[in-house]
Amino acid sequence: MLFKKKKTEVAEYRKVPVHLGIIMDGNGRWAKKRGLPRQAGHVTGAQVFRKITKYCEKCGVSYLTVYAFSTENWRRPQDEVDAIMNLLRQYLKESLADFQQENIRTRFIGDRTPLSQDIQELMAEAEQTTAHKTGMTLNIAINYGGRQEIAYAARRLAEKAAAGEIVPDSIDEQAVEDALFTEGQPPVDLILRPSGEYRLSNFLIWQSAYAEYVFMDDILWPDFSEKDLERAFLEFGRRDRRFGGV
Ligand code: IPE
Ligand code: IPE
Ligand code: MG
Repeated sequence: MLFKKKKTEVAEYRKVPVHLGIIMDGNGRWAKKRGLPRQAGHVTGAQVFRKITKYCEKCGVSYLTVYAFSTENWRRPQDEVDAIMNLLRQYLKESLADFQQENIRTRFIGDRTPLSQDIQELMAEAEQTTAHKTGMTLNIAINYGGRQEIAYAARRLAEKAAAGEIVPDSIDEQAVEDALFTEGQPPVDLILRPSGEYRLSNFLIWQSAYAEYVFMDDILWPDFSEKDLERAFLEFGRRDRRFGGV
């Protein structure tokens, strides 16, 4: 009886966000705990990313943005950066076939110009191959920083103003939003971060102005599973989002 009641409660609260952001953190610590090199954590983390992406699409998430490599992550040892870039290359190559079967539109956000030429080409191919898909939109943040994104938006708007296409007075919140990498997408509803760090680390700082945050300190990304996502959906459903109203 008690169990039955609990189940009803669960079903009542569960809510799937329209736009979900995930900071895939804890790969290095996961590897260290096992006496493995940090790179091993990234390998497993990349597999978990694929699994969770598919699950999000199944659950009806409309937009999923994952933080894969930040503008600050270049500070890491060169061999670790190389390993992450190799994983990205591998993911792109392997997924190009997979993309045909799935109804996921893949996009990349961030500055891709410092990435190697072949990776940039694979990214463009992934975007083109999936552009017509009607299911979930997946934004993969690579060499992404929220501050960098806002600076780009400012530059784009300034260029338009200098060219006489817009007047400075017309620059409002909507205009800034339309100049971001996530142009045309709704704001982030829920940001999820495993690994016990309670910070945004420069992720979607504009888009998450009214997001709910779920920081999970009992799990590292390579151990993350569908059931952890469900825990977050439950917690999200319990939040009272007022957006400044009453
Ligand atoms: C996240 O895991 C992956 C990237 C930043 C690329 P970390 O590599 O930050 O793992 P920890 O935080 O050191 O455990
Ligand atoms: C944020 O994680 C970036 C990604 C998960 C890709 P970090 O591990 O780089 O962030 P900090 O250094 O703990 O803030
Ligand atoms: Mg980290």
